[in-house]
Amino acid sequence: MIAVVPPWNSPPLDLTLDLGEIHVWRVSLAQTESCLQSLQETLSTDERTKAEAFHFPKGRSQFIVSRGALRAILSRYLNINSHILRFDYNPYGKPSLIAAQGGNTLRFNVSHSGGIALIAITKNRDIGVDIEGINTNFPCLEIAKNFFSPLENSVLLSLPEHLQPRAFFTCWTRKEAYIKAVGKGLSIPLNQFDVSLAPGEPAALLNVEDNPEEASRWSLMELIPSPDMVAAVAVAGDCSKLYCWQWTGEF
Ligand SMILES: CC(C)(COP(=O)(O)OP(=O)(O)OC[C@H]1O[C@@H](n2cnc3c(N)ncnc32)[C@H](O)[C@@H]1OP(=O)(O)O)[C@@H](O)C(=O)NCCC(=O)NCCS
Repeated sequence: MIAVVPPWNSPPLDLTLDLGEIHVWRVSLAQTESCLQSLQETLSTDERTKAEAFHFPKGRSQFIVSRGALRAILSRYLNINSHILRFDYNPYGKPSLIAAQGGNTLRFNVSHSGGIALIAITKNRDIGVDIEGINTNFPCLEIAKNFFSPLENSVLLSLPEHLQPRAFFTCWTRKEAYIKAVGKGLSIPLNQFDVSLAPGEPAALLNVEDNPEEASRWSLMELIPSPDMVAAVAVAGDCSKLYCWQWTGEF
């Protein structure tokens, strides 16, 4: 199947984030040396230490771009210099802005894969995002057997073989976006809730084991960051206005 890539537009100069809107920024992690340098200068001491701990230069520079772009983007909404921003982390590692800098209002989540980061932002609602490259050589059925729910496994197995890799990664991103929105990461057993995954079926959290109310509390949306990648964003509440922006590295 050839995916249609929706436009990832440059944002307007007078960018605003209204209540009920979701903004997702696509960031290329391959930036020029001078951009990398500028972004690095905005990082906190602990972020620089984390960057230094990467074994390979590529991992180091991708972390710097991802975190630096996050700071640059958040600072644009908050009108605060990006190097001043401070993050808190929940017990599972999910970063958020400190309360004094709008952490209770402006919520975000980040995912990176294959040279692209997605940064999802909203107000007053928990949010999670996940991006994955579609690897056609991946042992999808084997991994699904261990991590997907019985319903998801039966849908995956019912598909023609050539559609299984995309459906697998679509399912994976929807599941990860949900657990990242909740903020508890992989401590939530992946096989204890169902998401949609069949081609053409809208993204949805269908059912959460032992918690019949939970599925209706969340909306899931599909994103197409590039023809060979899939992504999803999960947000508490109704599916509202989604805007996709391309980060140009210019601020
Ligand atoms: C969150 C998690 C699912 C991310 O998985 P992934 O697919 O490898 O990575 P992604 O690229 O999609 O996301 C990474 C980003 O998610 C964010 N993140 C980290 N922990 C998170 C969490 N619990 N919930 C939501 N987002 C989280 C961070 O911004 C991170 O980016 P950074 O490392 O550049 O800061 C996985 O790392 C996880 O389960 N972590 C929880 C670990 C835990 O339970 N720790 C307990 C303390 S030991």
